[in-house]
Amino acid sequence: MKREGFATRLGVLTATLGSAVGLGNIWKFPYMTGQNGGAAFLFIYLAATVVVGLPIMIAEIMMGRRARANAITTWKKVAPDNSGWMLVGVCGVLAAFSIMAFYTDVVGWVFRYIVQAAAGGLNSSDPKAAEAVFKATVSAPWASLAWQWGVLALVSTIILGGVSKGIEKTTKILMPMLLGMLIVVCIRSLTLPRALDGLAFLFNPDFSKVDGEVVLMAMGLAFFKLSIGMGTMMTYGSYFREDANVPLTASRVMLADLTVSLLAGIAIFPAVFNYGFEPAAGPGLLFMTVPAVFSSMPFGQAFMTLFFVLTAVATIGAMLSLFEVPVAFMIESGLGWSRKKATIATAVGLGICGIPATLSFSAMSDVTLFGLNFFDFYDYLSSNLLMPIGGFFICVFAGWFWGRERTEADLSNRGALSNRAVIALYSLIVKWITPLLVLLVLLKGLGAF
Ligand code: TRP
Repeated sequence: MKREGFATRLGVLTATLGSAVGLGNIWKFPYMTGQNGGAAFLFIYLAATVVVGLPIMIAEIMMGRRARANAITTWKKVAPDNSGWMLVGVCGVLAAFSIMAFYTDVVGWVFRYIVQAAAGGLNSSDPKAAEAVFKATVSAPWASLAWQWGVLALVSTIILGGVSKGIEKTTKILMPMLLGMLIVVCIRSLTLPRALDGLAFLFNPDFSKVDGEVVLMAMGLAFFKLSIGMGTMMTYGSYFREDANVPLTASRVMLADLTVSLLAGIAIFPAVFNYGFEPAAGPGLLFMTVPAVFSSMPFGQAFMTLFFVLTAVATIGAMLSLFEVPVAFMIESGLGWSRKKATIATAVGLGICGIPATLSFSAMSDVTLFGLNFFDFYDYLSSNLLMPIGGFFICVFAGWFWGRERTEADLSNRGALSNRAVIALYSLIVKWITPLLVLLVLLKGLGAF
């Protein structure tokens, strides 16, 4: 059977972008920037994206395209005589699980905000009211679980129904709409009386509060946002055409992903300062400020509803790419499982692992692991441990074991592209700079020195 692949070069770009753009940009980036002091965090994050994120993304796509296999089998193929490398793939499966456990909870909130926005329940710019709505939403245990399971059922149906093609097509139309919508919010937000305070927070850095942990968080966010360090990009790379320009595509995805995040930041922070929200409010930041911005503009309720609909659509591309990692692993694990069985097993497993994350805002708010509630624990485990560890080994492999010749052949499409300088720069960075930086940040952030 011929392996499925992306049909056009634009398809390659949009699908990869579909995985990268999601809650990471719209929800996580603003709230983490708010919690970690604003501009200083943003700049470290930018540096991490370019110096750590981009090379790892190129390496992953390159390896996946060469092996034409899922995240685990790729390791079997590229390192046939050392099965230790497969552990990196296993790390990736764990990371996918731990991300999905809290991601699906947040997607559930997005869906509930669509309903509430449409019903007119969010038409207020008062921080107290917004906070009350958010708290009420996340702290209802049964409703939260029901929505999370609904989200899991939806994603499984999409995967099993083989409609991902249709999803790809719809995303192509809806993602630009989301971009347009973000621009609308930005304009509204920037014309608020106290917009400048928000911009200063976002762009005027104060590095005095930066410590190892903040740097680790910023790097973790770069991993999370680019969907790297755990095999998603390997899997996507395996669908890349032979004539796709890997370094160029990766750079474009990185830039587009960054643009969406910056727009989300510009949309949110002026409003935060204008209406007197708390920038460090945490995971509720998006859900509290966006309604406030829309409430003060004409057709706000309709726009607000559409905003959450588009956000929900953006999360689906990201969730599909996450789900695929454990599913592909189970199918190829030698148990002889069908795609259907693997999908159902993943959904049920996630449904169970997701319970403590979802209940972190209600019944289990006092239950902690290493001082974090489950929601934060899953987040920390994936972004600050599993993905950087995976990324480190991917770099080491791509930099030290892939070899000069293979790298040149793969990244220049066997000489078809004239990008020697790009390849030389990539090779240098992926060999020396990225792995050392990741290791340093990881150890420092964990308090090893
Ligand atoms: N990047 C996505 C976002 O920003 C989330 C995501 C999708 C992801 N696939 C991933 C994160 C793989 C890490 C690894 O929402």
